[in-house]
Amino acid sequence: MIGRERGGDDQTRVHVSVLADEVVSVFAAADAPRDGWIVDGTVGVGGHASRILDACPSLRVLGIDQDPEILPIAQRNLARFGERARVRRGRVSMLDELLDEEGIERVVGWMLDLGASSLQFDRRERGFSFSVDGPLDMRMDPDRERTAADIVNTWDENDLADLFFHEGGETRSRKVAHAIVELRRRAPFRRTLALADVVARAIGRGGAGDIHPATRVFQALRRAVNEEGEELVRGLEQAQRWLVDGGRLVVISFHSGEDGVVKRFLSRGEDEGAFRPLTKKPLRPSSLEARANPRSRSALLRAAARVRNRASGAGPEVKP
Ligand SMILES: C[S@@+](CC[C@H](N)C(=O)[O-])C[C@H]1O[C@@H](n2cnc3c(N)ncnc32)[C@H](O)[C@@H]1O
Repeated sequence: MIGRERGGDDQTRVHVSVLADEVVSVFAAADAPRDGWIVDGTVGVGGHASRILDACPSLRVLGIDQDPEILPIAQRNLARFGERARVRRGRVSMLDELLDEEGIERVVGWMLDLGASSLQFDRRERGFSFSVDGPLDMRMDPDRERTAADIVNTWDENDLADLFFHEGGETRSRKVAHAIVELRRRAPFRRTLALADVVARAIGRGGAGDIHPATRVFQALRRAVNEEGEELVRGLEQAQRWLVDGGRLVVISFHSGEDGVVKRFLSRGEDEGAFRPLTKKPLRPSSLEARANPRSRSALLRAAARVRNRASGAGPEVKP
């Protein structure tokens, strides 16, 4: 069953793909190009990829993920599509290279479903969770050198505060950074619950709605560890280079800063005649989906069609 895997640590690990019907309808639209490759730069367990392959028999998917623990699950879940699905380990920022290595030229779709997978959040030893104890790690790609603990224990107070504010939207970021720097003088932070506890004590439970008080700080750390901002920008630039005329771009983001990057990229693309936005405002999950899958609640989907200069004949397909 897609996205459902019995973990080696006695947890049932599940990832439910967000806004899956909406994703399929973008790639399966009557005027979307057929016969080519969809690049799924964040394939995860292959949930969206399977739905696209089921709905569009002439399409193929190259699925990329940086997490070596997730790839075998994607491989298993996509095996029934045979040659129509390929899975490779890599980062979004390496897609130029991976597409060249795979000998892929006709890219008709580009999909980014940002952030971490439920499998990563739910495995305590990966260190993404503020509700179960684990090492303060948060690397999606274990080959990265810098962990969340490295940031928490070495960045100066101002830089930590800026990070929590800009990447997590934590308005009490100065208070949190101060509390962290005071406490780490005694002993460095090593575990997720110790950090979550300090954040909760620094800002209290009020003011953050119904989310855990450490949510924003953990999000900011995860984004920094995995360089998510830079990866997104590279992924969007590559989509523009690779997509054929009419090719579809779909991006699902999970916070307003990330969505802002996509929005500005597409609006510049529209001004320059490179993209035709298909969503005026970002699509959000229905209340039914949000209830069934609480992790979908903050999802924002934007889609666009690539436009290439038809006035000059076939138009140069700018390749890297
Ligand atoms: C939200 S999940 C994707 C779920 C997938 N769409 C599905 O339906 O199964 C995000 C996945 O993208 C991967 N990921 C995040 N950023 C990445 C990047 N820059 N390069 C490669 N993989 C990335 C994570 O490891 C994670 O498995």
